[in-house]
Amino acid sequence: MSSQEPLKHVLVTGGAGYIGSHVIYTLQATRRYKVISIDNLHNAHPESLDRVAQLARDSLPPDASEQDKDTAEIDGHTCDLTKRDQIRAVFEKYGKGGIWGVIHIAAYKAVGESTQIPLIYYENNVSATNYLLQVMEEFDCTRMVYSSSATVYGTPPVIPIPETTRLKADSPYGKTKVMSETILEDLCASEPQRWRALSLRYFNPAGAHPSGQIGEDPRGRPGNLLPLLAHMAIGRVKDSKLRVFGNDYPTPDGTCVRDYLHVLDLAKGHLLALDALAPESKVFDNCPADARFKAYNLGRGKGVSVLQIVEAMKKATGYDFEWEIVGRRRGDVPDLTADPALAQKELGFTAPQDLETMCRDLWNWQTKNPWGYGEPEGELAPRAQHVAEKLKRETNGVPVKS
Ligand SMILES: NC(=O)c1ccc[n+]([C@@H]2O[C@H](COP(=O)([O-])OP(=O)(O)OC[C@H]3O[C@@H](n4cnc5c(N)ncnc54)[C@H](O)[C@@H]3O)[C@@H](O)[C@H]2O)c1
Repeated sequence: MSSQEPLKHVLVTGGAGYIGSHVIYTLQATRRYKVISIDNLHNAHPESLDRVAQLARDSLPPDASEQDKDTAEIDGHTCDLTKRDQIRAVFEKYGKGGIWGVIHIAAYKAVGESTQIPLIYYENNVSATNYLLQVMEEFDCTRMVYSSSATVYGTPPVIPIPETTRLKADSPYGKTKVMSETILEDLCASEPQRWRALSLRYFNPAGAHPSGQIGEDPRGRPGNLLPLLAHMAIGRVKDSKLRVFGNDYPTPDGTCVRDYLHVLDLAKGHLLALDALAPESKVFDNCPADARFKAYNLGRGKGVSVLQIVEAMKKATGYDFEWEIVGRRRGDVPDLTADPALAQKELGFTAPQDLETMCRDLWNWQTKNPWGYGEPEGELAPRAQHVAEKLKRETNGVPVKS
């Protein structure tokens, strides 16, 4: 008979996405969890789940037990969280109490888009969270780790930003995060002996798993700076020049400052938070209200400017990015740097991997998968052809799976 603890079933929503796939990797590496994934593939490719499971299989020890082998397989469901019946069908498979906890990552995340189609954002990010919580309640699953964002702070009055900062999101997207946190807090207050939730306010996740097997694969033109630079260097983006929005902000070089952290460090934060939902956890002992709900910043506490990022990506890729300063963009906040002290103290969270490592891993992913998970969508610019040729030589002509 096995002397191992039985596996805990954990549901990850948005599991096929950028952060979700890295969170699943981290959960599987512990061999303590059986991962169930829900994703409607709105912004993801099913291949990501195949690849993350393969990483888990490859890291099994030769004497892996049947239970260990089971942890490497993901129970993936193509399911839309705005459809309560579809969520219920997943929970029914495991029955009452069958799913130990949920890491709720799925959401739409484009700030600009959210200003154009706010109702769709409120439906997908807030109503879906509500439906998910209703089904969880029905099935006696009352633990959640929630993906929030630094955007909940809007333009913060104090840098670095502590969690006690008032929440004042500017965009509909940011407001969906504030609303979802509010719903969670109210729910935890309604039944403090039953519900526990931790909200993780991410700063700027970047990089990829060092194998280059999983990474960020944005649909269309990337909205975030680092993937945009990677697409420019690989030749997927036609623009030759990066537009830098404003160099007259009150920051060291005048460009906006963000707090980047490696996506695998962020993923480990989820593991710490999940473990902190266990009955013996002490993290809720000092909750101000009688609700087992808390929010933590996940960042490095180190601000990096747009121009510093461009320089770091130049070093990683060897590509000499051209850039031009254009006017400020509406809604941009000069500095979003976290105070991560609370997560460090209470969860034991650290984000040791530096910017150089993030850029190296991003570029490794991009060169191994010039078109992400999908099929090529056209010709790469000449520079990228050169990268592809080099890669072909390095792999002795064996084509790299894209
Ligand atoms: N990437 C960032 O810079 C960042 C920063 C702060 C917060 N966040 C938050 O982290 C989470 C994940 O971000 P990401 O970068 O991995 O994005 P992503 O788009 O790669 O992942 C989100 C996943 O959720 C899925 N999804 C969306 N709506 C769904 C629905 N109704 N039903 C089922 N699946 C659905 C998508 O298909 C996608 O796979 C989001 O909640 C986002 O708001 C991201």
